Amino acid sequence: SAKAIILVGGPSRGTRFRPLSMTVPKPLFPVAGHPIIWHHLQALARVQDLKEVILVGFYEESVFTSFIKEASEQFPSMTIKYLREYQALGTAGGLYLFRDAILKNSPSQIFVLHADVCCSFPLTEMQNLHTERGAQATMLGTKVTTEAATNFGCIVSDPATGEVLHYVEKPESYISNMINCGVYLFDASIFGEIKAAMKAKADGEKNTLVLDPLDQNDERLRLEQDILAPLAQKHRVFVYETKGFWRQIKTAGSAVPANALYLQKAHQSPADSASVKLADKLEGVEIVHPVYIHPSASVAPGAKLGPNVSIGAKAKIGAGARVKDSIILPSAEVGHDSSVLHSIIAWDSRVGNWARVEGTPTLPGSHVMTVLRGGVKVQSITILAQDVIVADEVMVQNCVVLPHKELKKDVVNEVII
Ligand code: GDD
Ligand code: GTP
Repeated sequence: SAKAIILVGGPSRGTRFRPLSMTVPKPLFPVAGHPIIWHHLQALARVQDLKEVILVGFYEESVFTSFIKEASEQFPSMTIKYLREYQALGTAGGLYLFRDAILKNSPSQIFVLHADVCCSFPLTEMQNLHTERGAQATMLGTKVTTEAATNFGCIVSDPATGEVLHYVEKPESYISNMINCGVYLFDASIFGEIKAAMKAKADGEKNTLVLDPLDQNDERLRLEQDILAPLAQKHRVFVYETKGFWRQIKTAGSAVPANALYLQKAHQSPADSASVKLADKLEGVEIVHPVYIHPSASVAPGAKLGPNVSIGAKAKIGAGARVKDSIILPSAEVGHDSSVLHSIIAWDSRVGNWARVEGTPTLPGSHVMTVLRGGVKVQSITILAQDVIVADEVMVQNCVVLPHKELKKDVVNEVII
């Protein structure tokens, strides 16, 4: 049988997701109408014989309680639980700490997924390669541009077999276009490697003078540098190159391409009871597919929505409004005859009438979420955090606006704090 771990991190991380993570922990931020990690669960529920998913992180217990309750009802084939680290133990440290819980009932295969990715999750394809090659670890890989590659873990592999010959985490200079997607399949025997790496680390620390005993970095065991890089030398790591989509969700703006990719996926695949429910038709409203509208949202006739738009619970869109490539969060409002393009309008925010909130479109397939404006890098997506008010007729372009601000005049290329 198989099990899965989702590495959810904790409140001290995800700082690049501000200002949205000031309201909700990043793994629960909604894209395509559902929390980021709901999409992971949806993919895991399709894996045969996968009965348990463990979220591992250092958020307070209560953070995931209601999410887990609802997800357990929607995905009844899996038991879902949260295990909390006492501090950031690194991407392999939590696996080590909770090894007994993870290995209970003797799963033969263990998926480990990063929470902060958006992916088509070709999990059965990974299982097939894993079995064929007798791998101990199978990583999901994707090709990115040469400029983007060094921001990720980079993989040099044998193109014929998929064997990982060399793995370097965020190298200083270019080594390969194939990068680590943060989606792994491990044989249960990986825990032998993790234990050995933990022991080597502890022995190493005994022999060196620890200058700062409070330095938390010393506690961390990293899956990438401490486990996978050395394991590649033993010819037991393979890479499956995805044929689907993949994006990292780091900055708040990267939720917009993630939203688009999950909506497009729902649009292209046949719907079942566990799919994102896309809007079909709405009286008097022009819909350019794909669009998600929560049943409790209200959209006035004459509005035009889409493509790639999600409208959250109790949100209100006025007559003649135009919304495209954007996320409108629960209880936000867009006034009549306003436009919202390439933007995120967070909870309880209000865009007035005849107003314009705009970002810049990100190039398809690009992993870069900034644009150059007058020689300065600015976020390509405009973000209004929780409870921001944009007055009537005001234009907001390429801005990030922190919670509780009121904008009464036009703003361009600014962070408003
Ligand atoms: N439980 C727990 N504890 N989770 C953690 C911890 C920890 O101490 N540290 C990170 N995570 C989670 C994060 O929440 C995230 O989901 C994932 O692990 C990876 O986060 P980072 O450690 O910040 O790494 P990264 O995103 O910069 O790079 C990693 O992911 C890339 C793909 O997105 C590396 O694995 C790269 O090689 C890879 O390309
Ligand atoms: P995420 O956005 O969830 O990954 O959290 P984060 O802590 O990486 O975001 P933050 O904006 O705090 O990170 C700023 C920079 O510091 C980024 O380039 C990170 O890759 C880097 N960084 C974050 N944590 C660590 C760490 O523990 N060690 C090292 N060396 N770099 C880190």
